[in-house]
Amino acid sequence: MALERTLILVKPDAVQRRLTGEILSRLERKGLKIVGAKMLRITPELSRQHYAEHVEKPFYPDLEGFITSGPVVAVCAEGPGAIAVCRTLMGATNGREAAPGTIRGDYGQSRSMNLIHGSDGPDAAARELKLYFKDEELFAFDKLIEPVLYE
Ligand code: PPS
Repeated sequence: MALERTLILVKPDAVQRRLTGEILSRLERKGLKIVGAKMLRITPELSRQHYAEHVEKPFYPDLEGFITSGPVVAVCAEGPGAIAVCRTLMGATNGREAAPGTIRGDYGQSRSMNLIHGSDGPDAAARELKLYFKDEELFAFDKLIEPVLYE
């Protein structure tokens, strides 16, 4: 299985509900590696770039209003098949339809305030990661140090 990187956004509703740690913990416990992370407020311009394929859809104004309404936490998650693994952990777009055990299935009932974004394929992941991270903001840290538990 190829090593992949994907963009995850902990959306404004999840940040406000203090679910950031819970959501990132689920990704890490699954075995994904967080190789980049930052908190930011998405601007209308960044929203239009990120959601370029949805800009002409009727729901876009609501989507932009929501995604710019408060800070998000942007994360680059890495692992074998990371894009699909994250999509599976997230659950269906609409929280009412998402399966129990998924992030959206466990914490929400909304289609718009649905806690988390994850890139939906390799092209989207590459494009979206560039919107949020410079190359030097993503890290490969496996062999940088010997872990020391006790000194
Ligand atoms: S589509 O049209 O089927 O491709 O759209 P979908 O994949 O279901 O959703 C794409 C993203 O738009 C968000 N969305 C909405 N936001 C606000 N209001 C409404 N009505 C709405 N419908 C869809 C949805 O949460 C998806 O966000 P991301 O961040 O990509 O998961």
